[in-house]
Amino acid sequence: MNDPLRQALEEVYKEVLNDSYFLFGRQMYAFEAAFAAKTGVSHCVAVGNCTDALFITLKMMGIQPGDEVIVPAMTWISDAAAVSQLGAIPVFVDVDDQGLIDLNLIEAAISPKTKFIIPVHLYGQMVDMPKLMFLAQQHSLFVIEDCAQSHFATLATGKAGSFGHAGVFSFYPSKNLGALGDGGCISTNNKTLALACRKFANHGGIDKDSHEFVGLNSRMDTIQAAVLLEKLNHIDQWTNERRRLATYYTNALDGLKEFRLPKDIHDNSHVFHIYEVRSKRRNSLKSFLEEKGIQTQVHYPKAIPFTNAYRHLGSEEADFPKAYQHQEETLSLPLYPGMPKAHRDYVIEQVKAFHTL
Ligand SMILES: Cc1ncc(COP(=O)(O)O)c(C=O)c1O
Repeated sequence: MNDPLRQALEEVYKEVLNDSYFLFGRQMYAFEAAFAAKTGVSHCVAVGNCTDALFITLKMMGIQPGDEVIVPAMTWISDAAAVSQLGAIPVFVDVDDQGLIDLNLIEAAISPKTKFIIPVHLYGQMVDMPKLMFLAQQHSLFVIEDCAQSHFATLATGKAGSFGHAGVFSFYPSKNLGALGDGGCISTNNKTLALACRKFANHGGIDKDSHEFVGLNSRMDTIQAAVLLEKLNHIDQWTNERRRLATYYTNALDGLKEFRLPKDIHDNSHVFHIYEVRSKRRNSLKSFLEEKGIQTQVHYPKAIPFTNAYRHLGSEEADFPKAYQHQEETLSLPLYPGMPKAHRDYVIEQVKAFHTL
């Protein structure tokens, strides 16, 4: 963490300690308002994490056991897990070349039981939301955007989290906008839904001891909200830097054999939470880079239908060929705001060196 940010956060801690409202402090409401304004929605409800945000939103939008929910086969497990926890059924749809839900395959997955679609703006790249919303409208389906990796990614007509009936965000520490622990929120233009989510996340009521219905406890600590509020002052600069770093990598690595680079499919929408490349020799490349002291990650080593949690569905590679290809070939190169030039040049040098072997 750089020094000016560290100093600013130390001031933030002091303020929260002085106020001593560790839950529902003024910073939490200020963060909700600022985040909603920046996302372009009228309501933001801060909760404990994004998985809870998914669960709470689905529940308050009326999901019932046995309902079907369309989710991409390649994503983080939360999208499917929240659905399953509610007794509903995730219906997996394969992804496209970018790793985003394939809009051409959604209609075939819709049944009379389908109630929701959860598009995921994976890696920071946005799904074509106008197209998806049109599809959802035609079939009277609700849409919850998973924006855990795409804070403030922007299409011509709006930001991630402002197209669907609701959006959900994660503030897990490594996210583009990260807290110092867990955090999440729900974005929506629907006042009734926002209030219902707020109540559900606080034991079914706004005021202490008023339990209008059975809820749960999923709150964002004031300290996390205060940190996020401070970080909001820097997020545009960090996003621009991520985009500049991604361009730097792409310019330097373009043209390597059997090596695919990420594309910014909708001009300027990609916020590069992850710089995800694909290689037929992914595992060897990963080991090679590790030997050279370069840490990489795989997002994700198993598409959701192939995880142990969903193995009982009996899905095979042929059912989700793109997601399968993704899990076999994807690799995330290091990219973060403040990454020194010498580090990125070293990554580039070693990726190129691997390709001469
Ligand atoms: C796409 C996606 N959805 C949901 C989540 C869940 O977020 P959280 O850890 O805040 O529950 C994550 C976090 O990694 C994610 O990447």
